[in-house]
Amino acid sequence: MSPAPERIRIFDTSLRDGEQSPGCSMDAAQKLRFALALAELGVDTLEAGFAASSDADADGITRVARALRGTGTGVCSLARCRPGDIEASAKALEHAEAPRIHVFIATSPLHRQHKLGFSQAEVVDAAVRAVEHARRLVDDVEFSAEDAIRTEPEFLEEVFRAAAKAGARTLNVPDTVGYTTPAEIEALFRRLRAAIGDEAILSTHCHNDLGLAVANSLAAIAGGARQVECTINGIGERAGNAALEELVMALNVRADRFPFRTGIDTTRLVPTSRLLTRITGMAVQRNKAIVGANAFAHESGIHQHGMLKHRDTYEIMRPETVGWARSQMVLGRHSGRAAVNERLGFLGFSLDEAAAERLFARFKTLAEKKKEVFDADLEALVLGEDANAAGWQLTAFHLSTGAGQGEQPAAAIELRDPQGESHFGRGSGDGPVHALFAALTEARGMHVDVESYAVHSVSSGEDAQGQASLSTRHHGEELTASATSTDILEASALAWLALAQRIARRPGPAVAPTRDIAASEARA
Ligand code: KIV
Ligand code: ZN
Repeated sequence: MSPAPERIRIFDTSLRDGEQSPGCSMDAAQKLRFALALAELGVDTLEAGFAASSDADADGITRVARALRGTGTGVCSLARCRPGDIEASAKALEHAEAPRIHVFIATSPLHRQHKLGFSQAEVVDAAVRAVEHARRLVDDVEFSAEDAIRTEPEFLEEVFRAAAKAGARTLNVPDTVGYTTPAEIEALFRRLRAAIGDEAILSTHCHNDLGLAVANSLAAIAGGARQVECTINGIGERAGNAALEELVMALNVRADRFPFRTGIDTTRLVPTSRLLTRITGMAVQRNKAIVGANAFAHESGIHQHGMLKHRDTYEIMRPETVGWARSQMVLGRHSGRAAVNERLGFLGFSLDEAAAERLFARFKTLAEKKKEVFDADLEALVLGEDANAAGWQLTAFHLSTGAGQGEQPAAAIELRDPQGESHFGRGSGDGPVHALFAALTEARGMHVDVESYAVHSVSSGEDAQGQASLSTRHHGEELTASATSTDILEASALAWLALAQRIARRPGPAVAPTRDIAASEARA
């Protein structure tokens, strides 16, 4: 009997390296929702944040640590080699079942000289002291040598040997700037494997600046890495991190080349990717491997002909294996509560009774407008449910484009505040969206400095639902919100309201109200 294939540990950093990148910020509740989805997906360790970076990050880690007890997924916090960072991590992880502290320090000559002003000996000393400190607080400590790829290999060996001796169980080799190539990183891992032996697990962490993050991670595995750090949809600093879904499916489909196993339930890949898109509003490109809308679409006649004769002619994996529904069309206007709730469960949602009831009413309205309700429509409704629950309701709006009359587009809005009081607003602007936001500003009584605005369709057909996503910067923090509707202007208004609510909930000085509604704001 051949031995069981070796295990590759999947370390997801969507909530840390991913979340810190533009367009991907999440609040504590969103982090929690996504962390539960990652646990269901089967990741081994989840990096929930960087506790010392803000109270909000520490709070998010604490909530995730509590919620993930009993799931089998470990929870990790990043820390610089500073006592305060390590203690903040340990505190945030206090209730975690399997806590991990991930300490890092830059090791490359560039970083040592220009960022840290440290000699090699000082870097080793800081790393050893940090690992020892973290080991006094938790059993599981990971050490990362930031910019490892551009570090002198003999020095990297020295730092890693010292960190392992101090108690680090995992040694991570980040390609911080996405600079390496497959042949180079494979050789480096072979060298490190020989130097470190079985003292610690070697880990790879590749950024995608040259589009090589997944290829480099696979090469690192060939060289001896047994943990891969990655993110859903490849989100992350600059061009992102290695995409979890691509890595896992490469290992899965090419098991002949990579005789390894992971703990990932591949059928959760697409639902998890879509959950992330819904939370952050950051869509994946249509032709993205595994999770893009075109990943399994066969358009050309020759391909369709081949597919009809034998699926394997043009299909290297089945869409069902990665979680695409066999049939996308599931519900219609005759579908009842049970069918809707069952489908929601399949898509990974669990709504309380009141939310499920509100959602069902919205489903019925949508099903009257649309003959076919797709999974994406249903997901969009749940997102709309979030936007509707934002406190302030959009009760009516009217828009005139002014086209043909030589006038500016103008909008009129009616909102209902959480106390049931109506607020009206009017506005005009260069375009209808501009006019809409001006009317919302007046009705809501607060200004939102919209930094980015994007719309995209979330389902198919002429009557597809559109998703609007907005972001703003508030006291240096990026806040995003999305909403969906079959009417893209309504989706835009709902997203604006959700964003306004997120700002209003923030501690500290709120964005200056444009008129005196500060009291009702505080109650919202
Ligand atoms: O890319 C990087 O170097 C990192 C480390 C902090 C692990 O994200
Ligand atoms: Zn990174």
